[in-house]
Amino acid sequence: MFFVPLFLSNLNTKKIARKIEYIRTTGSTNKTIYDMWQNNEIHSGGALITDQQTEGKGRRGNQWISSASKSLTFSFILNDEDEVLNNKISLISGIAIIDGIKKIANLDCQLKWPNDIMYKNKKLGGILIEKKEGVFIVGIGINVNDLDFEESIQNKACSIYSITSRNTQREPLLAFIFNSFENLLTKNMSEIVKKWESVCNHINTFVKFHHSNQIIEAEFAGLNKDGKAKIKINNTEKIFHSGIIEL
Ligand code: BTN
Repeated sequence: MFFVPLFLSNLNTKKIARKIEYIRTTGSTNKTIYDMWQNNEIHSGGALITDQQTEGKGRRGNQWISSASKSLTFSFILNDEDEVLNNKISLISGIAIIDGIKKIANLDCQLKWPNDIMYKNKKLGGILIEKKEGVFIVGIGINVNDLDFEESIQNKACSIYSITSRNTQREPLLAFIFNSFENLLTKNMSEIVKKWESVCNHINTFVKFHHSNQIIEAEFAGLNKDGKAKIKINNTEKIFHSGIIEL
């Protein structure tokens, strides 16, 4: 059960998530919120949260597995206003999650490019941003009170509970994430890039970079002014907007 009044009492945004829909179960919140938007049932800034996803989608066509009522599984929708939002949205989504977790659990999580939420090289959450017909759909999954994980992800996943041994209330956590997100929307790209780099767990280190069916040993040199990754391959810096990093 997700208590919307408790969420709203912690929310201090003007636009983001002032309208939130809660449904107990759905296939994928990204898909459902888009259907709602098409039916004029939700507008820019609106959010949808569920306790259980039956067909959760991850990046690159992967499945997203989460335990019912223990994780935060939600999406929100934003009008695609300008080029700047295009560059900002992925970065500020990641930073807002780091901020929210810090505020509620005093835990320092980090980001793995492009936007995995990590704690000591284990994944705690992920973000799937889809761009459709003038809108961004931002879908976020965070392992909050999950006790155990499916065998396939057991060694790679963690939750706030598995780190702190304490239960975390999902309602204020979600509100803190949206509070930070709306605040970050007002910041310029150079501030956002600086903040993102400060919470990245592989900045200026050598990583395995997967791109175009190749795996290259390269240095992750941070983000450029548009938020794209700067990867140094044989001392030559190249700019990438997609790829996978293996630590
Ligand atoms: C990733 O692969 O790291 C991204 C995972 C994103 C999962 C979230 S859960 C809420 C929203 N609905 C989905 O179907 N996926 C995203």
